[in-house]
Amino acid sequence: MKAADMYRVEGYGAIVTGGASGIGLCFTEVLAENGARVTMLDVSQERLDREVKRLKDNGWEVRGMRVDVTDHAALDRAFDQTALAYGRLDVCFANAGVDPGIGFVTVDRGKRVPEGAIENYEDARWNRVIEINLNGVFATIKAAARHMKPRQSGRIIVTTSMAAFEIEAGIGAAYMAAKAGAAHLMRNAALELARYQITVNAIAPGWFITNIGGGWMQKKEVQDEVAQWVPLRRVASTEELKGLALYLASPASSYVTGSQIVIDGGCQLGNVLD
Ligand SMILES: NC(=O)c1ccc[n+]([C@@H]2O[C@H](COP(=O)([O-])OP(=O)(O)OC[C@H]3O[C@@H](n4cnc5c(N)ncnc54)[C@H](O)[C@@H]3O)[C@@H](O)[C@H]2O)c1
Repeated sequence: MKAADMYRVEGYGAIVTGGASGIGLCFTEVLAENGARVTMLDVSQERLDREVKRLKDNGWEVRGMRVDVTDHAALDRAFDQTALAYGRLDVCFANAGVDPGIGFVTVDRGKRVPEGAIENYEDARWNRVIEINLNGVFATIKAAARHMKPRQSGRIIVTTSMAAFEIEAGIGAAYMAAKAGAAHLMRNAALELARYQITVNAIAPGWFITNIGGGWMQKKEVQDEVAQWVPLRRVASTEELKGLALYLASPASSYVTGSQIVIDGGCQLGNVLD
């Protein structure tokens, strides 16, 4: 088989949580533009309406469903309806996630922030991030496995973060714990589901321009500041995730499971300030 043919996802049925913005929207797009049928699950009805219309206008087969990943019963129903509509579920991106607010230092790591200190960290803030960024991934993998196991095939891809293996002190403890937890849950699921030819992997992005945290990364001055912390000296566009997403969703990655693939402009190497 030619390598290009191994990237074909035509006719696949897919679900992307948090699929109507940023990184999830890029996953939706790369699947849909390659002929897959994609259901975006998102809490934002406004984003769903806008993106479903735009993508359908391109001639792509997409649907939107307003689902909060913290509502596990609603998530299960959305999976059931999607699998019924497409007659199959081949790919699931467990991507929905939120920013936790400030960490124990400012984002530039220059100053301590009292409300981010562990003794002041509000339980409600902690619980919300864990509910969405960790428990939401658990519920999504669970729903996907239920549909993929009987077919003995499938691809599950979790969006983690650099925060899964290093501490971004400006971002907040709950995010670190949730992403590290999601990475290890991915590995557990990969081992368990391998027997059924279901692969489970993670994409760990660095700094991408999206709407997370109210869209602070959209600001030019923020991008310029963050770029200094990245060996490639720039933040990234979500387009730059498309190749890896298609690889993990398609037969091209058939022997890859339990891997967390980092796409961070070199951040995990450390940095030099020349
Ligand atoms: N942007 C980055 O630099 C970056 C880096 C590493 C990891 N990530 C991760 O990427 C994922 C996507 O984030 P993004 O940067 O594209 O942000 P984004 O805000 O642009 O997109 C996230 C989408 O998820 C949706 N969402 C939020 N809570 C939800 C819930 N409870 N149920 C369903 N949908 C929900 C939002 O409405 C939004 O459309 C997150 O898991 C985030 O932690 C982002």
